[in-house]
Amino acid sequence: MSKEPDTLMLVGFMGAGKTTVGKEIARQHHSKFIDIDSEIEREAGMSIRAIFQEYGESGFRDLETKVLANVQTFDGIVATGGGVVEREDNMAILHESPATVIYLHGNLESTIGRLLIEGQRPLLEEKSAAEFFRLWAQRDPKYQSVANFMVETIGKTPERIAAEIVALF
Ligand code: S3P
Repeated sequence: MSKEPDTLMLVGFMGAGKTTVGKEIARQHHSKFIDIDSEIEREAGMSIRAIFQEYGESGFRDLETKVLANVQTFDGIVATGGGVVEREDNMAILHESPATVIYLHGNLESTIGRLLIEGQRPLLEEKSAAEFFRLWAQRDPKYQSVANFMVETIGKTPERIAAEIVALF
């Protein structure tokens, strides 16, 4: 990476590998890494699951917007949550942010496979397969609209995806 952007934000659907790839870029470049979901958990003092249970999705989204606004100038790599594009406020933050936004694009098949192994996504449990597919189709153009670059992830290791991102700069 010849000229590293100050803030690199990774967006994409749940299970796209935003956290894993973000940590890998940070490892290779000795930069800092922050995960919005972990920040939300830290600030709330509860797990994402507990926040959904106690305050519902809208309570979770309020916290997400607050944390997103605070990390847009973070000096390093930021992994967002897959639903960061659900709110207009967040879309505006992402469009106007000085951060370089990268869309980690995958397909529904690989994503669902990953999520079933990882678990821990309240929305995965709430939704039918059809609803999940609709969510995917609704979010894909939103990720594209906020992203400066889109990186294909299907069939690639996190190390390779990180290297491709690094090569963009
Ligand atoms: C969500 C994605 C999750 C987490 C929450 C809601 C979503 O993050 O923020 O469960 O709406 O897609 P990951 O994308 O890291 O799984």
